[in-house]
Amino acid sequence: MTDSQEYFDRVAGQWDRLRAGFFSEAVREEAYRAAGLEAGRLAVDAGAGSGFITEGLLQRGMRVIAVDPSPAMLEEMRRKFAGQTLDLRQGEAGNPPVEPDSADYVFANMVLHHVEDPPAAIAALAGLLKPGGRLVITDLDKHSFWFLRVEHHDRWMGFKREVVRRWFLEAGLQEVAVKNVGHNCCAASSCGSECASVGIWVAAGEK
Ligand SMILES: C[S@@+](CC[C@H](N)C(=O)[O-])C[C@H]1O[C@@H](n2cnc3c(N)ncnc32)[C@H](O)[C@@H]1O
Repeated sequence: MTDSQEYFDRVAGQWDRLRAGFFSEAVREEAYRAAGLEAGRLAVDAGAGSGFITEGLLQRGMRVIAVDPSPAMLEEMRRKFAGQTLDLRQGEAGNPPVEPDSADYVFANMVLHHVEDPPAAIAALAGLLKPGGRLVITDLDKHSFWFLRVEHHDRWMGFKREVVRRWFLEAGLQEVAVKNVGHNCCAASSCGSECASVGIWVAAGEK
């Protein structure tokens, strides 16, 4: 088990509270807007965590497959969404356990900076879309806060928007746009006085 897997298993029960301190509901509203949601469609939430994106999708009448590598996060969603129809699957964004060409929407919120190979993950997630389906990824701008790697097990220190745009195009997506969400991700270091405030972008493209 990697340090990152161990971290997310450990914080799963507190993730809703921690997440609310890092970034707000405005992030998922921008993601849903970029997707142009229509009720009854199939959405995949990759790296779903405790279900921040999934929750709003269910409220909007989507059918949802929520994927995460962390058994504790999956258990947290099982508990939170008990009684609702939700397909929970263990797996990674780079090799998602979902049928290719099957989804209307694929979301990944604050996951890209945790994956080993971001362009490969984007290509794999794009592969899940039906023709006309939309991939929507929300993540961090490039930053220099090293403590996020140490304390939150981030693998990548954010991304340049033009690079994300290129990865979307290389994945075969069209109508690609990478926009500012207009809200930052904020985190204070638990050792020292450093405080990160990092811009968040939303990238969307159509298959
Ligand atoms: C920062 S949390 C975000 C969770 C959720 N998307 C949210 O917005 O609250 C990152 C999540 O990505 C998951 N994760 C880590 N590595 C992953 C990978 N390679 N593929 C998919 N998910 C991954 C973690 O288990 C964790 O649940």
